[in-house]
Amino acid sequence: MRLWAFGLVIALASCGDTGPHLVSNSQVVGDTIPKALTAVPGDAERGSDIFVDRERGHCVLCHAIEGLEAEFQGNVGPDLSLVGDRLSAGQLRLRIADYQIVRPGTLMPSYYRIHDLYQVAEAYQDDPVLTAQEVEDLVSYLSERR
Ligand code: HEC
Repeated sequence: MRLWAFGLVIALASCGDTGPHLVSNSQVVGDTIPKALTAVPGDAERGSDIFVDRERGHCVLCHAIEGLEAEFQGNVGPDLSLVGDRLSAGQLRLRIADYQIVRPGTLMPSYYRIHDLYQVAEAYQDDPVLTAQEVEDLVSYLSERR
């Protein structure tokens, strides 16, 4: 299974210049990624740090969460105080990883994607904004917002 997945990544990497897809079609079911991206479960406390951290998620730029300690909380995106009631872990995972798959053209950035990116400095082209573990940490944190 692992080898098969690795082969797929290589195949995608070599077809054109759009780069490998971190999220493969087989991982996406409806509007969800039902399976965790890592074997290590997400850590909600770390997720909260990433949500605020300018160098990583910086989700507060566009989203507010009640009770979160942050100097500034934006409102470009929906309030996420009760997002755990609205969305399952799988739905959260896909939205954080690559919202473009759910809604092409959305303002929400793709945090776990390296193909078809524009205006990205060469040094960063092969790295997604967040690691798979950081995505899981955020899924864990947001699942608890209910
Ligand atoms: C540049 C602004 C922006 C940033 C930064 C941003 N988002 Fe969003 N986000 C949006 C917008 C806009 C939407 C609504 C998307 C739509 O409907 O097209 C959204 C939607 C969402 C949703 C779905 C909410 C719902 O109620 O359906 C989740 C979950 C989410 N964002 C999480 C995050 C996380 C986690 C981060 C940080 C890693 C983040 N966002 C960073 C703009 C942003």
